[in-house]
Amino acid sequence: MEDLPRSAPSDDEEFRMHEESPAGKPAPSSEDVGRLYDENTEVVDGAAGGNIHSGYWESAADRSSLDEATDRLTDLVTGRLSVEPGQRLLDVGCGTGSPALRVAAGHEAKVVGISVSREEIALARARAAEAGLTGRVSFAYADAMALPVGTEPFGADSFHGAWAIESLMHMSDRAGALAAVARTLRPGGRLVVADVLLRRPVHGETAQFVEQMCQAFQAPGLPGPEEYRDAVRQAGLELLEFTDIGENVRPTYRAFARILAGAGGHGGPADGGGEGADGGGAAEEDGNEFLDSADALPRFGDLPEIGYVLLVARRPSAPPA
Ligand SMILES: C[S@@+](CC[C@H](N)C(=O)[O-])C[C@H]1O[C@@H](n2cnc3c(N)ncnc32)[C@H](O)[C@@H]1O
Repeated sequence: MEDLPRSAPSDDEEFRMHEESPAGKPAPSSEDVGRLYDENTEVVDGAAGGNIHSGYWESAADRSSLDEATDRLTDLVTGRLSVEPGQRLLDVGCGTGSPALRVAAGHEAKVVGISVSREEIALARARAAEAGLTGRVSFAYADAMALPVGTEPFGADSFHGAWAIESLMHMSDRAGALAAVARTLRPGGRLVVADVLLRRPVHGETAQFVEQMCQAFQAPGLPGPEEYRDAVRQAGLELLEFTDIGENVRPTYRAFARILAGAGGHGGPADGGGEGADGGGAAEEDGNEFLDSADALPRFGDLPEIGYVLLVARRPSAPPA
């Protein structure tokens, strides 16, 4: 391939600049992310039956509710772990615990969930107690990027599997987090990631808009396919599957826009979509950038560059020769 002149960054270089430092802003810290969820736990927890993630719709004709569609996404993720009764699993970025409780109840597995939000952990623990699952499920405040591997309950080689639903998008050191999680997996153990994906580089106004949204959602830029693949490789994991299910999750953005608008975001006509209808920005209006971004979610969800990765990786059974 012909070399591009250094003065004009290639798509790939521009892409990486956005990944690392949107608009030159420092990447959000884990404390920033924790604060976002502490302040908005009630709103996001009430949005989709306790799930704080996208829904999965089979087709445009699928009329499933957001609650049904989000549970379906949990099942798509955890189904890829082939969970068996008694196995130990790690939920990286557990939210208020719904996915962990669903897996523990449905598969008689043991789950450890971690989050950087103390509010979420408190709610998740209360839910586990209510469900009578405290013997099988536990929740801890822990940062996946600084996971104390080797310390209980994060023993090295101790988990049969792990999953991360929409938590990596918040992390500035995704490769480091995956490497730490990989060390806790038993040989042959699987990791499943479900998260927002930037399919290809964005430029100009679109890049600015994506950066604003990242800021509102405390994300240090959105990873592209290569960043995910590299992070898996650097963690010493084998990539088994990389599927873009972006079209199946797309209705999520309008659904969440309606909910956030109802919860105090200035929202506007969430179904209006498009650049004209939503005003186009994630502007700070009443001090809660997250809620104020509600009206921009449909535009974000309509960007063809926004995809969603379902990734399966495995810790090799034996170290490479
Ligand atoms: C969008 S929510 C998803 C919650 C949950 N996975 C679900 O699907 O309902 C993102 C979650 O990632 C967690 N998170 C973000 N950064 C993290 C980090 N560095 N370590 C651990 N958890 C993190 C947040 O605290 C929050 O629980």
